[in-house]
Amino acid sequence: LAQKTLKDAYKDFFPVGVAVSARGLTGPDADLITSQFNSITPENAMKMGPIHPEPNRYAWEGPDAIVAFAQQNGMKLRGHTLCWHNQTPRWFFTDSSGKQVSREVLLARLKQHINDVVGRYKGKIYAWDVVNEAVPDTGTSIYRRSKFYEIIGEDYIEKAFEYAHAADPSAKLFYNDYNTESASKREKIFQLLKKLKEKKVPIDGVGLQGHWSIYEPTAAEIEKSITQFESLGLAVQITELDVSVHPKEHERRAHRPTDNGTLTAEMVTRQTAQYKMLFDTFRKHKGTITGVTFWNVSDKSTWLDNFPVPNRKDYPLLFDQNLQPKQAFHEVVDF
Ligand code: XIL
Repeated sequence: LAQKTLKDAYKDFFPVGVAVSARGLTGPDADLITSQFNSITPENAMKMGPIHPEPNRYAWEGPDAIVAFAQQNGMKLRGHTLCWHNQTPRWFFTDSSGKQVSREVLLARLKQHINDVVGRYKGKIYAWDVVNEAVPDTGTSIYRRSKFYEIIGEDYIEKAFEYAHAADPSAKLFYNDYNTESASKREKIFQLLKKLKEKKVPIDGVGLQGHWSIYEPTAAEIEKSITQFESLGLAVQITELDVSVHPKEHERRAHRPTDNGTLTAEMVTRQTAQYKMLFDTFRKHKGTITGVTFWNVSDKSTWLDNFPVPNRKDYPLLFDQNLQPKQAFHEVVDF
């Protein structure tokens, strides 16, 4: 009996992607990656710190290997990410004496960085997460108080999009964020995107990271985000999907689950239902949703094993610790 695959099941809907490291492209993971997925995103290799560790030095080896893998296997490639407050080296914001640089210097550095990275992979990366997580979770401001914001001001966001567009005019450019289903953050992100559209900034879509759990969000909350962002003429992608079996802090209060860190049958049941709901919702928005990417390959190893709690195993993906499809996988491909 031929095993169904994610990429075949969704060929009429959207590419199905996975976050990868250069090291993960050999060995048993590689077979699963090429057989199930038709898109990849570098999990860390193209972030500012990893790819541009020092002022005049780029670390191209890892990113180049990922780009070559995508090309050899006929997979789509998403670039992640050009401007983020995390995983960005200190040198970016300081001069050689350690003093904070001016707006002009930081803009020039941002431009050079984006031009070099996007330019190198021009025509090979079809979509870029240009700005990542610029909107804060709390407070009324739509701008996170990041170094980029403090030094440049709110227009660092539109500048980043303009630099990326200039470096590769055919790449699809995305704003990417998490918690996009919380009512207050959704509204702030909407205000930001609306401003960008009004200013004719070259933005094509919004990435909903999709770091969700077996408790939240609901289909209605996700649909509200999809339709609201769609109303601005933007494409929507799910860029970093995983469904944690552990509750977030506010979910712990709301749902009061028994969770001592070990996997229970109830968690598996909830996760299966959550994955079914998610893909039912994504299919319903065919045309608007132009990609769904999982953040890691299998439960063997995921970033959630150490986030937000260090050394707490998580089981957030469709393949188990032995790379075998879980019940949730079957719910997703059989529709
Ligand atoms: C995570 C990676 O998965 C980890 O390996 C790394 O240590 C930290 O970053 N939002 C994002 C991703 O946009 O880049 C993050 O990736 C997860 C949260």
